[in-house]
Amino acid sequence: MCNQLILGDNLEIMKTLPSESIDLIYIDPPFFSNRNYAVIWGDKGEIRSFKDIWSGGIETYINWLYERVEEIHRLLKPTGSFYLHCDWHANAYIRVHILDKIFGEKNFRNEIIWIYDTAGRTKKNFNRKHDNIFWYSKNSKKWTFNGNVKGVGIERKASNHMRLGEDKNGRKFYEKTDKNTGKVYRWYLDKFKIRNDCWKDIKAMNSEPADIIFLNALNRGAKERIGYPTQKPEALLERIILVSSDENDTVADFFVGGGTTIIVAERLNRNWIGVDSSVAAIKVTENRLYKEKNLFQRPFSVKIHKYDFDNLNNMNAFEFEHFAIEQFGGIPNKKQRSDLGIDGIKIIDNEKFYIQVKQSKKIGRNVVDNFKSAIDRKKSKNGFILAWSFGRGAISEIARLKREDNYNIQLIEIKTFIPISKKPKIDVNIENQGNTFKFDAAKTESEIGIEFFSWDFDFKDDFKPDILLDKTGFAEKKFKKGKYKVACKCVDLDGLDNIEIIDINVNS
Ligand SMILES: C[S@@+](CC[C@H](N)C(=O)[O-])C[C@H]1O[C@@H](n2cnc3c(N)ncnc32)[C@H](O)[C@@H]1O
Repeated sequence: MCNQLILGDNLEIMKTLPSESIDLIYIDPPFFSNRNYAVIWGDKGEIRSFKDIWSGGIETYINWLYERVEEIHRLLKPTGSFYLHCDWHANAYIRVHILDKIFGEKNFRNEIIWIYDTAGRTKKNFNRKHDNIFWYSKNSKKWTFNGNVKGVGIERKASNHMRLGEDKNGRKFYEKTDKNTGKVYRWYLDKFKIRNDCWKDIKAMNSEPADIIFLNALNRGAKERIGYPTQKPEALLERIILVSSDENDTVADFFVGGGTTIIVAERLNRNWIGVDSSVAAIKVTENRLYKEKNLFQRPFSVKIHKYDFDNLNNMNAFEFEHFAIEQFGGIPNKKQRSDLGIDGIKIIDNEKFYIQVKQSKKIGRNVVDNFKSAIDRKKSKNGFILAWSFGRGAISEIARLKREDNYNIQLIEIKTFIPISKKPKIDVNIENQGNTFKFDAAKTESEIGIEFFSWDFDFKDDFKPDILLDKTGFAEKKFKKGKYKVACKCVDLDGLDNIEIIDINVNS
């Protein structure tokens, strides 16, 4: 399995994955159904929609999650580990009614308490300042535990490509040099900013492999924050991944959200799978991976459900035939030439149906006649012609062949078996006052609607967005003197994207 991001309901996707194939699974499920994922854009959305959607009460929620955890259990290797991230809303129910039942009490390893210090004071009860992360192993005898890690847990297991260092203030970091550009990337180990003085003593406990973690939640200004409201800190995932997996193990997150697990797994040289039912989540995670692309040696695939019309139409003819026939459930010809008008076959009830593919619109009568001759040579009367669309001549010729000679040739429009969409058409308007530029992509056209924009203000060969997730289509940037390429990427509601690259010249 290669590294992959998959769009879809995790239950359906998990059913397609092989048993005992994953070493570590972390999930951070929402308190609302994916049917309403849009509410995650409002910070208070989670709780409000929990009440709205799980109207059957906690029981409905637990049943929904139960089926998913059952699949997770099947997917884990015998030595694998499962981390489930939750909080006071449902933690008690989840442990007793899901985890103990599926994994067994004896496989409970820890309840990790993540303590954060976020703003917000309550008057009638204590402030809620922690999340609960349950860790279960699949097996009660053997599991991975790299427990002697220090700090956020990266010292001992830092990857071969990483160098551990300390800056002049004594802050420890690990860093990696990009082979192509020579640019140095650095991650600090002490991402623990504890606000109250009294916490400082406790902070030392972070360096023990204890079941409490002091780590601030990502505030609005946090550098790693990408605008995904439920995003979890990278340091938290670093600890989990380092402790419960080794290099080249496979790590999965089936509620991937903004992709924190995937980014950290990639940095730490783990293989990974990320699933989410939200287009925004999958595409934001993809962009987040691109942003650090030079660090990544291994390719990854992104599976969404739609195909872009222009991309298919511009595909080389043989590739297109092959792709269309496979999507149609047929067997494409291996040979590229001398197919004598036959591109593949489909077997239906033990009968052979010959297939011809045309990458064009309004197929005429001549195509039908040539195809008839081709299947005559095969001594068959059955076949399919696949094309974007058919003209009247072709349709009436098919009817005549059926009436007069009992031919069973069917004309099939490609859009009936390949989900096609048109990627957005980007239109960026630029205004500047001196070296401050305003970019306005509001006129971008999309048939289905726009999910979000991303901006790279200094595009070189690869898209490395400075703004990952922009719902507005407006961006403003102050440049230093020079020539730049600004790239605007637009992602539509199906996850299809398009990019426009604009040259700008800053004189002042
Ligand atoms: C709390 S967020 C995860 C945040 C993530 N841990 C991060 O650091 O960014 C939960 C995610 O689960 C996704 N989700 C909800 N129901 C789902 C389902 N049935 N299948 C797949 N993903 C689902 C939502 O779209 C949302 O992105």
